[in-house]
Amino acid sequence: MRVTTSPIEGQKPGTSGLRKKTKVFMSKGYLENFIQSIFDATGGAEGKTYVLGGDGRYFNAEAAQIILKMAAANGARRMIVGRGALLSTPAASHLIRLNGTDGGIILSASHNPGGPEADFGVKFNGRNGGPAAEMVTDAIFARSGEIDTYFIADEPDVDLSKIGTQQIGSMEISVIDPVEDYAALMESLFDFPKIRALFASGFRMRFDAMCAVTGPYAKDILEARLGAAPGTVVHAEPLPDFGGMHPDPNPTWAHELMDEMSGPNAPDFGAASDGDGDRNMVVGPGIYVSPSDSLAVLAANAQLAPGYKSGLKGVARSMPTSCAVDRVAEAFGIGAHETPTGWKFFGNLLDAGRVTLCGEESFGSGSDHVREKDGLWAVLFWLNILAERNESVEEILTAHWHEFGRNYYSRHDFEALPVEVANKVMDGLRARLAGLPGTGVEGLVVKSADDFAYEDPVDGSTSHGQGLRVVFEDGSRIVIRLSGTGTEGATLRLYLERYTTGPGGLDLEVQAALAPMIRAAEELAGIRGVTGRDGPDVVT
Ligand code: G1P
Ligand code: ZN
Repeated sequence: MRVTTSPIEGQKPGTSGLRKKTKVFMSKGYLENFIQSIFDATGGAEGKTYVLGGDGRYFNAEAAQIILKMAAANGARRMIVGRGALLSTPAASHLIRLNGTDGGIILSASHNPGGPEADFGVKFNGRNGGPAAEMVTDAIFARSGEIDTYFIADEPDVDLSKIGTQQIGSMEISVIDPVEDYAALMESLFDFPKIRALFASGFRMRFDAMCAVTGPYAKDILEARLGAAPGTVVHAEPLPDFGGMHPDPNPTWAHELMDEMSGPNAPDFGAASDGDGDRNMVVGPGIYVSPSDSLAVLAANAQLAPGYKSGLKGVARSMPTSCAVDRVAEAFGIGAHETPTGWKFFGNLLDAGRVTLCGEESFGSGSDHVREKDGLWAVLFWLNILAERNESVEEILTAHWHEFGRNYYSRHDFEALPVEVANKVMDGLRARLAGLPGTGVEGLVVKSADDFAYEDPVDGSTSHGQGLRVVFEDGSRIVIRLSGTGTEGATLRLYLERYTTGPGGLDLEVQAALAPMIRAAEELAGIRGVTGRDGPDVVT
């Protein structure tokens, strides 16, 4: 069926797909226009195969039905769908690669809350399994501005609760187990017998799936395959509103886990993941592992896991992520790349075989096994390292800092600011950048200051305006950028980093260690003054 439509404003994918309020996505023609724009901007769906699934949030099931009918009407050959329209983002990435499909559509607003009053999102991933490159998302956006027709099959809903094959017209729909292939991939990378032995020896773990998509994956892999005690995985059932939880695995939102890990009789290891399963947080009893440190520890210990025993080709981190992993790369004599925020920038480096591991400060890490960050993968990697080293999380982290030095690190978020206020902060600092090198702030001398631009070493494309950074002579840094994933006003992110080595300086309280950087940031950008806010809304 051919439906006449007209362009809807604002369908511009951000850091990670198109994210809007659920009601916006449910409004007439909104999802349809965007999906048709994806097909149109990528050469049409005729004869193609796609993977489809989402994180189970409100409107996930309905959106999946619409997309299946649109794919059929656009002439797609086959859709591979997770049972119940569920797929974690990393599992979807794997399925695209495993089946050699033309891409995939993932329904998720990641860690943003779900529900009729909350957020929804759609991501398009390409043949390599990774988020569509900017060239593609720009083309999708451009198409959404001129669209006048979409196609949708006038057919009843498909039963997605049963594994097996069905048809809409001539399009085949394969409903598959969402966990099976992903679990096999994990088993090929990590030493499952060794981790099983660790659990058998009485090692206790808590995994908080936050009522989101990782629940079924974690239950199957940790409890059924690796023998962790039943009940190790909590909040394991994906719910449309995430049970009212905010499925963002950081100390603020995963406070239940944090409380348990800092309480008496804490488990030996704790972890949480986000709405669509690509983020992770890891914690030891009484000790929190910052995502930047986690990436550095994984890199330093990679060879302990069977999938990485031949070493790393290189590493990459997003610009605001701490430089901890760079120290490891330096010690190993491998390349370290600095990319703009967003996983899509790692794709080319991974495809070209230049890096094996990559990560972001925003609780994301991953490797060349898929083209997305992968929450459960990072957790299994840690378990493999814990099983091999037979040390606690704290011992591993402390040894790491002694060897490589410590990058104290924190991100301060100022959320839901009026857009013009956030821009004023950015414009104010941007105007000062050129004059900063050589000047002193809080007893620190500015070494360089710029608006980060990136030239992709593989395809030569450039991305400008990726965040303001001020680097001091001792390696400390201040970075400020605006979020590209928010759905309300503007979110200003302030990233603070200070590097120290040697005795006495390695076990300070993080915010205290960063106090000079916090003051310097205020002096340079005047966030509190301009926004009128007393402090950040979220500190990670
Ligand atoms: C945030 C994170 C970024 C991550 C993205 C998608 O984007 O900061 O590292 O890739 O979510 O998970 P931002 O809101 O900062 O644009
Ligand atoms: Zn996510």
